[in-house]
This record gives sequence, structure tokens and C-alpha cells, in this order.
Amino acid sequence: MKYTRIPHTDIRISKICLGTMTWGRQNNEDDAHEQMDYALDQGVNFFDTAELYPIPSKKELYAVTEELIGNWFKKTGNRDKVVLASKIAGPGHAARHIRDTGFSKESIISAVEGSLKRLQTDYIDLYQLHWPERKTNYFGQRGYNAHAVDVWDDNIHQVLETLRDLIAEGKIRHVGISNETPWGTMRYLEESKVHQSLPRMKTIQNPYSLLNRLFEVGLSEISMREQIGLLAYSPLGFGVLSGKYLADVPPRKARVTLFPNYNRYSGETATQATEAYAELAKAHDLSLAQMALAFVNTRPFLTSNIIGATSMEQLKENIASIDVDLSDEVLDGIEEIHNAIPNPAP
Ligand SMILES: NC(=O)c1ccc[n+]([C@@H]2O[C@H](COP(=O)([O-])OP(=O)(O)OC[C@H]3O[C@@H](n4cnc5c(N)ncnc54)[C@H](OP(=O)(O)O)[C@@H]3O)[C@@H](O)[C@H]2O)c1
Repeated sequence: MKYTRIPHTDIRISKICLGTMTWGRQNNEDDAHEQMDYALDQGVNFFDTAELYPIPSKKELYAVTEELIGNWFKKTGNRDKVVLASKIAGPGHAARHIRDTGFSKESIISAVEGSLKRLQTDYIDLYQLHWPERKTNYFGQRGYNAHAVDVWDDNIHQVLETLRDLIAEGKIRHVGISNETPWGTMRYLEESKVHQSLPRMKTIQNPYSLLNRLFEVGLSEISMREQIGLLAYSPLGFGVLSGKYLADVPPRKARVTLFPNYNRYSGETATQATEAYAELAKAHDLSLAQMALAFVNTRPFLTSNIIGATSMEQLKENIASIDVDLSDEVLDGIEEIHNAIPNPAP
């Protein structure tokens, strides 16, 4: 394994982070525990979860993933071996069954208390805001809609105050954002520069893969200059970048087949790009999934690459990507495809 640090902290984390969002839906508790055992054994010490998981979310399954992780901590006594990240859901249709009070002080406190209980721990290392409260572009919305009606009042100061108090109580150690735009990211960072008692956002968890490099447009400069580290999610574009959806028959029991509205990475141009990346990988004797993950692993703004797997075979292949070196020829080939078909998935 290779290691890095959460920026501005001394917390050492693996460059591969274990994603958890299929646990409780596509994967059962035994699968989840087996994945955590194996990942930890391979040196993966960083796990990412959320109160929203499993995905697709539904009321009856609220926060089941956190419960499965909590049970594993209890069973193994491994809490202190893991750097644990979780998230509070933002407002909107994806989380209507959770609460409708956004990031109010009460919402954040009760979300943290609930996560601590389910995770059977007394602290969360990295607590993230899953998506912005305000209306902006994330989750497959490419551009900002200047005409959208948005009644959001800027409460970023109060959100940071609440998080500061939770840090002071020892319930969370550090904070991060997710699905943020350049405006939101700088807004948080500036607030904590002007008011130095407020916590600084240490990480930004956004989508990043060969099919979606939009992070490079406005956020990678912020990430490097401000040292706010990218936690890249969906590095295989929901599994599309394994190449398995290129077959004539769609793969059974696979996310996009099971949940057809998860089609963000399956449009015509995304498929063309996937075909081109698959050919490049083949020409260099690489597995497409490992080439795609190795690309993410080696970006200078990356803090950790959040992989996801529904089988041990996938998990092994994905973790092993940390040892895959991409030659200059492969990297040039990737740039050529990217320039011809830039960011086909929003
Ligand atoms: N902050 C956010 O809003 C946000 C959003 C999404 C994800 N995340 C985090 O990021 C993690 C990873 O996201 P993701 O699951 O979307 O990542 P991904 O790498 O894009 O997709 C992972 C899925 O692809 C398939 N797969 C993985 N490895 C494979 C392989 N080697 N060969 C063939 N198929 C493979 C599996 O699904 P099938 O077996 O079903 O095909 C797996 O569940 C999540 O668990 C979560 O922690 C955060």
C-alpha cells in the first residue's frame, strides 16, 4: 500500500480508501466484514461511509451500512486501526426520508450522534457534508443553472461553528466537503481563514475518473494551492470502466443493470470513450479497471481513491491497482482519448 496524509493533519491514510455504499443492498453483512478484513490486511486503513448508505437509498434501509461497520468494529476491536469518514446527508429528494432541516445546528448534532451510535465508536475521524444545501451543479448536473429558484440563506459560518463545537467535544476530528463546486469550496476555506477559530475543510470528495475529469477544470488548482485533498469517488464510473458493459449481453447483478437510472456513465460518448480506453489497456496488457484506477491513484491532487466492490475478486483487483505503474506511452494515450472525448460523463 501507499500512504498519504489528510492535508493539514498528521493522520496517515492509505491512498486506496474502502468505499462502503453497496453494503446492506448489493452486499450483505458477511460480505462487508470480509471486505473490511481483507482491505485492512492489505494496508487499507481508510474507510468511507455515510448515513445515506446503502445506495440506492430507501427509508427501510436508512444507515444500515454504518450499522454493519459498527458491528465489525465491535467484533474485531479494529476501530483504532481505521481512519473513518462519514457524512451527513444534504437536503433534497435523495434524502427526504432522513430529515428536511438541512445543515441546521440541530440536524448536524443529531446526525453525528446517530452515526456514532450506529458505528459503535465515540469519534469519527473525518466528517463530511455529503452535498451542498444550496441548489448547484452536482450528481450528474454538468453546468450551474443560473435561473434555478434557490431560497438558500448563506449559513456557512454557522455550519462551521457547529462543526467546531463537535470537534471540541471530540466527537469528530476533522471536516470535509463533498460534491462541491469551486465557489462553495473557496467560500468554506475563506470563512475559516477570516475566522481562525473555525475548522478548515481538509478534503473534498467529488467524482473523478477517466470519464469525468471535471475536477481538473476549476477545483484542481484550488486543491493544490489550498491543500484541500481530493477523495475521488466513482473512479470506475459505476463499474463502466471495467469494460463489462461493452459486452453484447449486459452483466447480471451489476449496478447499471440492476438500477438502470444509474446511467450517468453510460451515454453514447461515454461508451465511445470507454471503448477507446479498453483498446488502450488491451494494447498495453493492462486490465481496464486497473488502468483506470492507477490513473486516479497517481494524480497530484489526489489524497485518496475511494474504490467500491461487490465481490472479493473486484476488491482484490482494485486494491492491487496501487502497484500498477502507467508508462508514458499509456499516459499519452489517455490524454489523446481525453482530448478527443473530454469528460463524456457529467
Ligand atoms: N460523496 C458522494 O456523493 C459519493 C458518491 C458515490 C460514491 N461515493 C463513495 O465512493 C465509493 C466508490 O464509489 P462507486 O461504487 O461509485 O465506485 P466505482 O469504482 O465507480 O464503482 C464501483 C462498482 O463498480 C463495479 N466494480 C468495481 N470493481 C470492479 C472490477 N474490478 N470489475 C468489474 N466491476 C467492478 C462494482 O459494481 P457491480 O458489481 O454492481 O458492477 C462496484 O460496486 C462509494 O462506496 C462511496 O464510499 C461517494
